[in-house]
Amino acid sequence: MIDHIYWKEGVLYLLDQRQLPFRKEYVECRSLNDVTGAIKKMIVRGAPLIGIVAAYGVVVGAREIIQRKGHCSDADIQNISRKLLITRPTAVNLAWALKRMQDAYNLHKDDPDMLNILTREAISIHVEDVEGNRILGAYGSDLIDDGDTILTHCNAGALATGGYGTALGVIRAAHEKGKRIKVIATETRPYFQGARLTVFELHEAGIEVELIPDNHVGLLCARRGIDKVIVGADRIARNGDTANKIGTFMIALCAHKYHIPFYVAAPQSTFDRAIDNGDLIEIEERDGKEVKYLRKTLLTLEDVKARYYSFDVTPAKYISAIITERGIIDKPFKKNIQRLF
Ligand code: MRU
Repeated sequence: MIDHIYWKEGVLYLLDQRQLPFRKEYVECRSLNDVTGAIKKMIVRGAPLIGIVAAYGVVVGAREIIQRKGHCSDADIQNISRKLLITRPTAVNLAWALKRMQDAYNLHKDDPDMLNILTREAISIHVEDVEGNRILGAYGSDLIDDGDTILTHCNAGALATGGYGTALGVIRAAHEKGKRIKVIATETRPYFQGARLTVFELHEAGIEVELIPDNHVGLLCARRGIDKVIVGADRIARNGDTANKIGTFMIALCAHKYHIPFYVAAPQSTFDRAIDNGDLIEIEERDGKEVKYLRKTLLTLEDVKARYYSFDVTPAKYISAIITERGIIDKPFKKNIQRLF
């Protein structure tokens, strides 16, 4: 398994995902600014991983303040949490993890061991995510048939989570059961999560993978080249509407047109119980420069405007089922999501 995040003696080490698959470089986070910067600059990405990193970020921030002035107040913790929360707006796992850290702080703020307790809470969030993904993977693997060709978008693997994966967790679990699977990975412009991360992970796991440009999905669905689609999620509303990497909605439409099952795999930390439907999900808009440049190479005219929405929302009606660590959620989603969580 890829060692992409670890905690050692008060320092958070993060594998710089911008450099993959060519270089394995770690970024050391010793201050709150290091952690917020790592999330904003996409040194780390993927909804569950962002939540885990933010949880460790609370510890890094609290530790920094204690070293500076001897103690950490309620206002300090709120301030740390607020700075982490605004790093990326769409993945709800971030707010979920910060709430867990806030609850742990509220319970133990007068304990002299408070910093260690917060550290243990962050580690629990991390470990539980991996355990949950394994369970989710096992449930989801029952939906996969021997010989399936599965399309996935972006990267919802070990690199996007604590270390196993959601969509790729299902694929890993099916592979571990001996099912022969071929994965079609979309490139996922402009950050290339598919080309750089999904291909890398599956290759390391010995799972057959083929890379396609994003615009090939329609043709492959029409020509019966895809048996199933499995993607991850950044936020799921109470009715099942799902935000995920931009382009997911178009894939869902193609899958629907050709009666290809379209599954979303996500842990309970991705469900937003506060919102009724996907229209209420804030969509991150990133700098157009990330579209205009491929690393340092300019791809178009320097002064042209470029637009980059990082996510879209797939309406629940295009989703066949949602795979979670509590089981597989079938339709009607509203009723079944409420019953499960
Ligand atoms: O912009 P990113 O790379 O953070 O987007 C990641 C995705 O959209 C993933 O599919 C999603 O977070 C699920 S990861 C288990």
